[in-house]
Amino acid sequence: MGGSDPTRNLALELVRVTEAAALAAARFMGRGDKEAADGAAVNAMRIVLQTVDMNGIIVIGEGEKDNAPMLYNGENVGNGLPPDVDVAVDPIEGTRPLAFGRTNSIATVAMAPRDSMFNPGPFVYMNKLAVGPEAKGVINIEKSITENLQAIAKAKHKDVEDLTTIILDRDRHKDMIAEIRKAGARIRLIPDGDVAAALMTAWPGSGLDVLLGVGGTPEGVIAACALRAMGGEIQGKLYARDEDELRRGREAGYDFDKILTMEDLVSSEDVFFAATGITDGELLQGVHYFGDSASTDSLVVRGLTGTVRQITATHRIDKLRELSAVKY
Ligand code: FBP
Repeated sequence: MGGSDPTRNLALELVRVTEAAALAAARFMGRGDKEAADGAAVNAMRIVLQTVDMNGIIVIGEGEKDNAPMLYNGENVGNGLPPDVDVAVDPIEGTRPLAFGRTNSIATVAMAPRDSMFNPGPFVYMNKLAVGPEAKGVINIEKSITENLQAIAKAKHKDVEDLTTIILDRDRHKDMIAEIRKAGARIRLIPDGDVAAALMTAWPGSGLDVLLGVGGTPEGVIAACALRAMGGEIQGKLYARDEDELRRGREAGYDFDKILTMEDLVSSEDVFFAATGITDGELLQGVHYFGDSASTDSLVVRGLTGTVRQITATHRIDKLRELSAVKY
């Protein structure tokens, strides 16, 4: 027995950040304007982030300072009070699905102690292998897909034929998809959104067992924070699109052959993650409007305790418009 009194759960403050981003972004559903949606989400996120008691540095943001006016990598966020933390934001994970009114667009934020998050620099893609708690410890991105599927099936007391894999529908995955089919596992090909997909492998009842394939590096770090907190596992490997990127990576000290373990991607258990649905999805409902009010559906996870909260909220848009600088 023993231990100390419960400490602050910063994720409960972070959820206000993702709610604000989702509420601001959801107005743009189906309007075909990714930039306007992103601008609204970033602006809302930034305003609410400044109210959080933390001394944060954006490690995963909206690019470098020169081409993104807000939430750029290296920007300070929070009100400057302790704790010192790394912050990863993806104000709209799934800008295309939002712009075209498709499912599974979410707003996400993750936070962990200072210097604990992997900084991918300008390297945009990462090969990923992610599973939920039951298959934690049995995956190895260096091994073949078939071997990984066999190990996951064994850990989950299933046959490979019973496994459902999830993978972004991209030409670059042709060979991977062929190997998954040959191994006998089922496949869900998704147009976008591999953060939600990674999360779903750790979500009881989602029916998904493993995320495979190459997606965004920022999304990989955010998914690592969520999976670390939820007891799952992700491994990655930086993926160069061509020889030139490989060369630039090597010059900058990045090793494209190195396995990025969950520990490399986020080295602390003291991690917080929050996500709010923008459009309806399997994991989270999107923003729904009711005249003067709107509802949000969010997920809040704290690594130290492993607590996962689902928070539905009703927001009074009429009141928020009077009180807040965010454009609701
Ligand atoms: P954004 O909405 O931030 O653009 O990301 C959507 C997404 O589908 C991610 O979930 C995924 O990691 C990445 O894009 C894949 O990149 P690409 O579309 O270039 O294959």
